[in-house]
Amino acid sequence: MTKVQSNPTPGASLNQATTILKAAGDELRGQILRILQHDAFGVLELCRIFGLRQPAMSHHLKILSQAGLVTSRREGTCIFYRRAYARDDGLDTLRQQIFAQLDTCAIPDEAAAGMTAVHEERAENSQAFFRNNVDNFREQQDLIASYSLYGDTVVDLIDSLNLPTSGTALEVGPGEGELLLELAKRFKRVSALDNSAEMLARAKTACEAKSIGGIKFLLDDICKPATKIRADLVTMNMVLHHLARPADTLKVVHNLLNEGGVLIITDLCQHDQDWAHDACGDLWLGFCPEELEHWANSAGFTVGNSQFLAQRNGFRIQVRQFMRSGSV
Ligand SMILES: C[S@@+](CC[C@H](N)C(=O)[O-])C[C@H]1O[C@@H](n2cnc3c(N)ncnc32)[C@H](O)[C@@H]1O
Repeated sequence: MTKVQSNPTPGASLNQATTILKAAGDELRGQILRILQHDAFGVLELCRIFGLRQPAMSHHLKILSQAGLVTSRREGTCIFYRRAYARDDGLDTLRQQIFAQLDTCAIPDEAAAGMTAVHEERAENSQAFFRNNVDNFREQQDLIASYSLYGDTVVDLIDSLNLPTSGTALEVGPGEGELLLELAKRFKRVSALDNSAEMLARAKTACEAKSIGGIKFLLDDICKPATKIRADLVTMNMVLHHLARPADTLKVVHNLLNEGGVLIITDLCQHDQDWAHDACGDLWLGFCPEELEHWANSAGFTVGNSQFLAQRNGFRIQVRQFMRSGSV
C-alpha cells in the first residue's frame, strides 16, 4: 500500500481532502468506485447494476466527479464513467488509498449480478452484429479503417521483435486472414480465434483460397477462453473496441502469453463518430492511448513500441506493443 506523506503536500488543501473523503464516505458511492476498478460503465448501465433511477445515479456521479475520483467520457449519447487516473494535485495518495482499500472488499452479490448482466448484454450485441453482418464485413471495415491502412505497420512491428519462428502466434478476430498469411510465413504454429462462427468460417475460407494450411481455427471468446491456449505473440487488430470487457481481457491475454511474449493491439484512438456503434457494431469509440497503457500496466504488461498512424476518415489508428513482464 502507498505510504501516507507526513509533510503537507504543496497544492493539497484540507478542503479538497475533505471533499474526497465525503465523496467516498457513502456506501453506494463506495460500491460504484469498487465496480469501476477495471471497467467503464455508462450511466444507464450503472442504474441497472444498482437498481437506481437516473437522477439519483447522476447525483452520486457528480459528487464523485467533483472529488476527482471518477472521470467521464461521452460515447455518442451516453456518458461513461471510470476511475480517475493519477493526477498531480497533491491528493492522489489519498485517492489511490481509497481505491486500494475498496478493492479489498467483495462486490455485493446484487451489483456483481448486475455487472455480469451488463457484460453479457454488451457481448451479445457485439456477437449479433458479426452474426448478421458477415457478408458486408469488408464494406463495414472500410468505413473506418481497412487492413491495408495498418497491416504493413503491424508486420514491420512483428519483424522487429525477432520472436523465435518455433513459437506460436495467435490472432484474435482474424477478419479475412490477411495477417494470418504473414504470421504463417513467420511462425511454426499459428492459431486464429474468433467468437463468431460466421467470421471464423470466413477467415478459414480466405486462407484456403490462398492455400495457407496448418492454421488452427478456434471458435472461442477471448474474454473467457474455454480452449487452453499458450502463445508467444497475440495480435488483436480492430478487436478491442468490440469487447464487452476490454481491460479485463488484457489480463486474460497476459496469462495466456508465454514468458517474453508480446501482445500487439491495433485499434482506433478515441473518436466521437458515434454512427460507428450501429454501422460497425463498435461497443467503444476507440481508446485514448493513456487508457490503454493503464489497462496494459494493470494487466502486468510493460509498454513497448507505439505507432500512431496519420488520421484518415476522421479516425486515428494506434499500433501498440505490450510485453509480458511476469504474472499478475
Ligand atoms: C472488426 S473485426 C477485425 C477483423 C480483422 N482483425 C481486421 O483487422 O480486419 C473484429 C473481429 O473480432 C471478433 N470478436 C469480437 N469479439 C470477440 C471476442 N470476445 N472473442 C473473439 N473474437 C471476437 C469479431 O467476431 C470479428 O471477427
